[in-house]
Formats: sequence, C-alpha cells, structure tokens
Amino acid sequence: MNKHILITGAAGFIGSNILNYLFSKYPKFSFTALDALTYAGNLKNILPEILSSPRFKFVYGDVRNTNLVDDLVGESDIVIHFAAETHVTRSIHDNIKFFDTDVLGTQAIANAVYHHKKTVERFLHISTCEVYGTGLAKKMDESHPLNPHSPYAAAKAGADRLVYSYYLTYKIPAIILRPFNVFGPRQHLEKVIPRFITSILLNEPLTIHGNGKAKRDFMHVSDVATVIDLLVHAPLEKVAGEVFNIGSGKAVSVLQIAKSIEKHMKVSKSQIRFLKDRPGQVSTFRCDYSKIEKLLNWQPKKDFDKSLIETIRWYKENKDVWSEQLWLRKVSISLPDGTVVYH
Ligand SMILES: NC(=O)c1ccc[n+]([C@@H]2O[C@H](COP(=O)([O-])OP(=O)(O)OC[C@H]3O[C@@H](n4cnc5c(N)ncnc54)[C@H](O)[C@@H]3O)[C@@H](O)[C@H]2O)c1
Repeated sequence: MNKHILITGAAGFIGSNILNYLFSKYPKFSFTALDALTYAGNLKNILPEILSSPRFKFVYGDVRNTNLVDDLVGESDIVIHFAAETHVTRSIHDNIKFFDTDVLGTQAIANAVYHHKKTVERFLHISTCEVYGTGLAKKMDESHPLNPHSPYAAAKAGADRLVYSYYLTYKIPAIILRPFNVFGPRQHLEKVIPRFITSILLNEPLTIHGNGKAKRDFMHVSDVATVIDLLVHAPLEKVAGEVFNIGSGKAVSVLQIAKSIEKHMKVSKSQIRFLKDRPGQVSTFRCDYSKIEKLLNWQPKKDFDKSLIETIRWYKENKDVWSEQLWLRKVSISLPDGTVVYH
C-alpha cells in the first residue's frame, strides 16, 4: 500500500534513524522531512540514497510556520512529529525556544491535522518520559503523575496534553508515544552517551553531574523504530487517543554507563570526574511498557552492552559528522546559589 509520511525533525537523532528504517523497509512509501536544521539537525544524518530519491522530499522549514505545516500535512497520510528542542540542560540555560518549538510547534501540527482530518489517517506525537519527573513507583506506567522537573520536560508535558486535548475535542487520530532514554548512532554530542564516548576518543575526562547515582532507562534507537512501525500499521481503533510508554524496563546509573563505556573502549585508568549536580535532576526513571506489550506484542530487543559497542563503533567511524558539534557539548547554567557552571 502506498503511504505518504511526513516526518518532522527528520534530520535529528531519532527522526533520521526512523526515516532511514522506514524508507528501506517500505519501498512503496514516500516521505517528506520537515526540519529547521537547528544546531541539532544535520542532513548528514539522512542516508545519501534517501536524499537523492524521488520518493523523498526535504523541506527546510519551521514547525511553527502554520501555512507551511498546513500544506505539508495536507499532502500526507501519516504524520510523525519528532521536531523539538530536546536538551534538558540547554532548557535551563535558555528556555524560550523550548516552549515556542515544543508547544507552539506541536499546536501548529495538531491544528493542521485537525484541518485535514478527512485525509490524515494518523498522527504520532513523540512525547517523552521526562514528563513524569522522578519515578514514584519502581516502574512507571502511563498513569504515573506528570511532574516535569525542567523547562524541557514542562514544554513536552504541555505538548503531550495539548495533543490529547485535540484528540478529545476534535477527534484527531492522535497517538502519543513516551520513549524513555534513547541512544544509538547520530545522537548529538550534548547527550550523555555520545559525550562520554567522544570524551574518550578526544582524551578528555568523562564528566558526571552529581554523584552519578541518578538512574535512567536506556533503549537503542532501533527499538523505537520497531514501535513506530507497529503504530503506523496497527488498527487505528486500538491505538487512537492512547499514550504508550516504551523503554528497556531496566534502570542503569549514569556512573555505570560511564564505567561500561570505559571498559568497552579499553580505558586503562578511569577518567571519570564529578561536577556539581544539575538543577531539576531526575533521580530515577524506569519504564513499564506492559501496555504496548499486551496490545501490540512489542518488546525491546537490543541488548544494552551490545548496543553500546555498536554505538561506540559508529562514533569511531563518523568523526566527520560529529566533530562539527564539538563546540556545543557544554552549556553554561546558573545554579540556585548563583554560581555558573558548565554542563
Ligand atoms: N533522545 C531521547 O533520548 C528522547 C527520549 C524521549 C523522547 N524524545 C523525543 O523525541 C524527539 C526527537 O528527539 P531527538 O533526540 O532526535 O532530538 P534532536 O535534538 O536530535 O533532533 C531534533 C530535530 O528537530 C529539529 N527542529 C528543532 N526545532 C525545530 C523547528 N522549530 N522546526 C523544525 N524542526 C526543528 C532539529 O533541527 C533536529 O533535526 C523529540 O520530540 C524528543 O523530545 C527523545
């Protein structure tokens, strides 16, 4: 079956991996990528055979541009909305863009989906586990309260509930996905796993906010791709208006991640250093994905250590892609006591 899919934020980390996956798996599908190519977007993330294909169109533009978004949504059967400002620390440093892009950009997309409700078959909104804040239970399911800890998380929570309100009010065919932490090839150096890997490649210390005991639930980006694939094909009546968590279901501390990366990269003397903690830090995230497991039989497949080794290989082999991001690895933020630190 031919489908035309609009992917926003397709030049970023997850969006490009999903585009690369769906494009090669479905030779009859065609795609439009809408991306503003902010510091986080890079056309090198999209495979050259996609960029030159007649089944693909790249549109340089902003998700807040309502006329442009309306035209592109009007041409599409399926909309997958990744575009966002995504870095928690940067949201502490400069939060305006986060509310602009993450909330108003999502509103522009949701309004366009409403306007083209007769032709848009489904709209996948990519939210995040950050909307929950620190886990109040051992594992967090979709009914966990929303207690965002950072401006990024608050903006994403606004977008998440905006989409849900449009589903209730206007019956748009929306599905909300809340991935826990994701890693893999093409992730920006500001995020923790690429930062650790490239610090070792550059002979620099691995810096950790706080004591490193904060736990996260990390899954490989290919596990996100299998969920998106399922949600693109699932019977709409089963998934419309639903929120789905996805993650590994396992919590690993930031310190443990740093140590594993040092082990896999054969660092003989540990270079781990500790910095003052980041304000709004979340202490534990662990995903309960049983809802989507029961409904669509999805489970994460990739082993954490094997995925880490593959990711390390990608960063070793693609310095030309990530070296352009080096100057963006650190952000200055003011702590509540007034001191300025670089994270
Ligand atoms: N990376 C994770 O661990 C993770 C986890 C859960 C959810 N998410 C969500 O998944 C989505 C993608 O995350 P990512 O890590 O790939 O992000 P990213 O920062 O790597 O990429 C974001 C992309 O959006 C584009 N963009 C930003 N502002 C835009 C605008 N105004 N108009 C058009 N394009 C714009 C950027 O150019 C970039 O290509 C986001 O919505 C994020 O909140 C990410």
